Amino acid sequence: MASHFSIRCLDCGTQTSYDARRPQCPNCGGMWSEAIYDYAKLSKNFMTSLAGRPADIWRYRELLPIQEPNLDLSLGEGGTPLIRATNLGMMLGCQAIFVKDERQGPTASFKDRQAAVTIAALKEAGISEMVVASTGNVAISYSAYAARAGIKLWAFLTSLVPAAKMREVALYGTQVIKITGSYDQAKLVAAEFAKSRRLYLDLGARSIPCVEGMKTLAYEISEQLTALMGPPDNDTESATVPWRVPDWYIQSVSGGLGPYGILKGFKELELLNLTDRIPKFAMVQAEGCAPMVHAWKQNKDTAQPVQSPNTLIHTLATGDPGRTYTLLREQLQNASGGIFESITDEEAFRAMHFTAKMEGLSVEPAAAVAFAGVVKLLRAGQIKPSDVIVINCTGHTTPIERNIIGEGWAHKIVMPSEAMEESSEEGLLAALSKVGTDRFPRIAIVDDNADVRRLIRRILQSQGNYTLFEAINGKEAVELARKELPDLMILDLMMPEMDGFSVMDALQTNPATAQIPIIVVTAKELTPAEKSRLKGHIQSLMQKGDFMSDELQDEVRALLG
Ligand SMILES: Cc1ncc(COP(=O)(O)O)c(C=O)c1O
Ligand SMILES: [Zn+2]
Repeated sequence: MASHFSIRCLDCGTQTSYDARRPQCPNCGGMWSEAIYDYAKLSKNFMTSLAGRPADIWRYRELLPIQEPNLDLSLGEGGTPLIRATNLGMMLGCQAIFVKDERQGPTASFKDRQAAVTIAALKEAGISEMVVASTGNVAISYSAYAARAGIKLWAFLTSLVPAAKMREVALYGTQVIKITGSYDQAKLVAAEFAKSRRLYLDLGARSIPCVEGMKTLAYEISEQLTALMGPPDNDTESATVPWRVPDWYIQSVSGGLGPYGILKGFKELELLNLTDRIPKFAMVQAEGCAPMVHAWKQNKDTAQPVQSPNTLIHTLATGDPGRTYTLLREQLQNASGGIFESITDEEAFRAMHFTAKMEGLSVEPAAAVAFAGVVKLLRAGQIKPSDVIVINCTGHTTPIERNIIGEGWAHKIVMPSEAMEESSEEGLLAALSKVGTDRFPRIAIVDDNADVRRLIRRILQSQGNYTLFEAINGKEAVELARKELPDLMILDLMMPEMDGFSVMDALQTNPATAQIPIIVVTAKELTPAEKSRLKGHIQSLMQKGDFMSDELQDEVRALLG
């Protein structure tokens, strides 16, 4: 059957038709190839064919390596929302941070795209048994699709994969093989097993359906960003294109299949004349397993494998990225560039915490790595606050470790015992009074901007128990301070009529309010004269758009003692 795509060897350029059973090039034996389509022809009516199609990956079916989408296998993969991260944006001083929420895929990670296309391709090829090595999420996703397709799956998992994830793989009827060793070792054993039994082996970035599944993220991001922000501001010299791309695409990285596939997607969008540039890529690794970051920083085209990954984020523990790194680096250098950066486990856990508290997104540590990366790169000036940023929120939370949420996250209410029966109502009230609000520290938030008040309120209420008051101008602030005598005031400087400086002066003149500690949160660049005016009056100074939720929280805790 004539196909709408062909396979081109990355080493010798030989073009062949796709055969899922034959991953190597018939000419040179090379294992690296890519799917190519007739982009010029497709570009003519691609946009029209999208109209009326559901928002899932099959929307882009002419650009997927499947002859006929099989909706019986579908679990609704793709079409995840692109969400504006307003609070995170305000904390970091960025207008446009968007989160591509891949937790909303059928098995709660972006690996669903890869699994859906691979299982569809195997089904078309009549293959009924396959092997995969995984750090957890890939196996979960393949298990779900294999179950629907009636394909037997062998999953090789390292024993570091959390037990809850392993059990989920088994629940789908997959045969789990636990390897006590690294993920790289699990991959080797899986490959041996597949070879000896002549079974299909998932090869990640070397498997056509994996890369093609991942690239759908680029298509969706461009289409959704255009819907949210409008078409790009095409300059007069370049041809008009209908779709927008972000300035930065950010992803946490293990083996690198994700960015590799998504980069191909963005390149194809250009070939289809839908976009006119490729975003810069930021790929973030956990410091304890960051072979790509080391190689990148040393300007090397080959990554030295990390033999013993040392990170708690086992999902990202690919020690040897092999040629995926080399290709990514080369292709990004030929496109719009990018960066590899690492963050510590601690930074990832912190990001996991603020992403949940400030954006309502509970993500797994591997996904939080990307959020931590954004904070680090913005602070280092690598990403500009004016840039449009899309973060791939790659997956969902696993059971939360106690060390992430800390102590004191629940109130304990001991129900009155039977012996106290007569006064049980009283006992219950007494127990409930332990969670009463009258003993909580009292904080006044003073800012004329309602969004800033809401942000600060959210930061405080998400991280501690406080009684909060708000004042919307200087005059109200002084009245509020006299009436409520707060334990702390968070004060803006620039407000109409009575500014923050005048509020401080007014509080000083009254002995009842003179001792209230003050944290100034301001967007103003202070002059030396203004700085000296603040001296002795305030306890802390924070710059708007450059503090994270827990930093403000630390200041508040320190001042309340
Ligand atoms: C949640 C999550 N984020 C990120 C990654 C890294 O993906 P890649 O294989 O594209 O490097 C994985 C890989 O399993 C993952 O499960
Ligand atoms: Zn070849």
